Amino acid sequence: MVRINTKKYNIAVVGASGLVGRELVFLLEKRKFPVGKISFFNSGKKNTAINFRNNKYICKAPSLKELKKSDMVFFVSAERVSARFAKKLADAGICCIDETSQFRLDRNIPLVIPEINASDITVSKKLISGPNCTLMGAAVALYEIHKKLKIKELRISTYQAVSGAGKAAIDQFNKELRYYVKTGKAPNIKSKVFPRAIALNLFPQVGSFDENGHSSEENKIKLELKKIWKAPSLKISSTTVRAPVLRGHSLSVWVKTDKKWTIKKIENLLLKTKGLKFFKNPYDYPTPLNAAKTFKVMASRLRKSRTSSKEFQLWIVSDNLYKGAALNSVQIAEYIAVNNLI
Ligand SMILES: NC(=O)c1ccc[n+]([C@@H]2O[C@H](COP(=O)([O-])OP(=O)(O)OC[C@H]3O[C@@H](n4cnc5c(N)ncnc54)[C@H](OP(=O)(O)O)[C@@H]3O)[C@@H](O)[C@H]2O)c1
Repeated sequence: MVRINTKKYNIAVVGASGLVGRELVFLLEKRKFPVGKISFFNSGKKNTAINFRNNKYICKAPSLKELKKSDMVFFVSAERVSARFAKKLADAGICCIDETSQFRLDRNIPLVIPEINASDITVSKKLISGPNCTLMGAAVALYEIHKKLKIKELRISTYQAVSGAGKAAIDQFNKELRYYVKTGKAPNIKSKVFPRAIALNLFPQVGSFDENGHSSEENKIKLELKKIWKAPSLKISSTTVRAPVLRGHSLSVWVKTDKKWTIKKIENLLLKTKGLKFFKNPYDYPTPLNAAKTFKVMASRLRKSRTSSKEFQLWIVSDNLYKGAALNSVQIAEYIAVNNLI
């Protein structure tokens, strides 16, 4: 991060003890974000300790009074918590970066992936949303192609990691794996976290279904991607699947463009796409294990589709906890700091 001024920002992290929160705290330190004072909040039900720059802090329940002491507040907890505090803080001039889905579709609130639409962040916008972690891979990987060749239709199948559903989901996954190791039988455990067993299994349900049979995750992909790309006429359909993977969401995408192209042209566009590492050799395809704790979206297996002209297929993987959540929030904060927006 390159800055000219030496200003430091007082930071609050709401949800610091969660999966995204812990990564966010780690990345603030690793990327040397100019932090002055820092405070950490959780549900207040546990005295969870958080380490930051060799100091130990105890999380507490958030209050408006406490949060108002900050210049910048990261919300990485639950929609209801963002709903309770974020707009009030933004009205008081405090910069809020919200990783929950609470405000993502609000017309007045920018939904930002810095590689794509950082310029939507302005001095007057004090509340900024980060998008859903599943669409992140497609949004970043295909943006340059969309700009040059206008993507008309996108069809997506997802293979989503357990960590996308938070720390309770990881606990559930571990419990089911232990059951298998102990009994040698596939688990068929009922849980509050998932609709089916997740270990040695997968299921085509992320969120709840609407009256037309689309899941809430499938609706988020469609609505949020159209907003970020400013592409109201783009057609997007998807099937979202939870897979027994710890970390990293994978996407299989079919992409139909308006303009003609050659595979060479698509390759060249992918190679110069910001935030993307593209592997030309199909045997170099990335997996969730390759993508874990990496900053870039990864893609490979580019090929012309056999079913439709002007359509190609691509395999995309990204770390849902880094680029899909914590890293994107930190990049938003870095953009604000570099451009002196607060
Ligand atoms: N996981 C992902 O890949 C991902 C990606 C993009 C966006 N998101 C979004 O990011 C948010 C956090 O996700 P996560 O996966 O980190 O969830 P998580 O592991 O379940 O963590 C939730 C965090 O919220 C805190 N919390 C719960 N109730 C609270 C309250 N009333 N006041 C303050 N803090 C409260 C929890 O504190 P305790 O420790 O006290 O329970 C914990 O720190 C969610 O909105 C999620 O949709 C997640």
